[in-house]
Amino acid sequence: MYKGSFITLEGVDGVGKTTQALLLKEYLESKGHEVCHTFEPGGTQLGSQIRSLLLNPEHSELHSMTEILLYAADRAQHVFEVVRPSLEQGKTVICERFVDSSLAYQGYGLGLDMEGIRQVNRWATGNLVPDVTIYFDADPAESLIKTKGDRIEQRTLEYYSRVREGFLQMARAEPKRFRIISAQGTREEVASRVLEALGGRI
Ligand code: TMP
Repeated sequence: MYKGSFITLEGVDGVGKTTQALLLKEYLESKGHEVCHTFEPGGTQLGSQIRSLLLNPEHSELHSMTEILLYAADRAQHVFEVVRPSLEQGKTVICERFVDSSLAYQGYGLGLDMEGIRQVNRWATGNLVPDVTIYFDADPAESLIKTKGDRIEQRTLEYYSRVREGFLQMARAEPKRFRIISAQGTREEVASRVLEALGGRI
């Protein structure tokens, strides 16, 4: 058990996770928490190079197995360099994306072996599980308008619908850890839903 809390934010691209992470950080700091805001892929110096490999649209030859392993490699570095040390110091860690993104995007989205993805990620993270996961739900047809079109974002709307459905299935299967909130509305409206969803958990 760690002194700090581990909060992850999940959702399809363009739902506003970064905006909400920053608002939550500001709120928690105003209440006296020490906060580490971070993200995957690319939350470490080494990981930022893995991120470039993963998102560069020129890498069309990147095999799906390589994709799973690169996300897991980025995550291993991130967990051992940033997340665990911060939790050990008693910080609240707000992390944009974690293992659930691999399960949703590579598992549900690409139809790859879910149990394999789970196993690789258990190993890569030393079995680290978030205390709370906020899932921002939105119709990908709307949220993707705000994205730039990297290698993943160039995938079809059908792909993104499977990713969304995957997130929803995982969230419903683990109601103690997951909170589902709508990403619709102003940033203030969504932020107040986040605080409501976290009520009493941190
Ligand atoms: P970001 O745009 O939220 O920083 O994430 C980069 C992209 O990587 C985004 O399209 C989601 C995707 N992704 C996966 O496919 N699997 C993963 O495990 C993670 C962390 C992200």
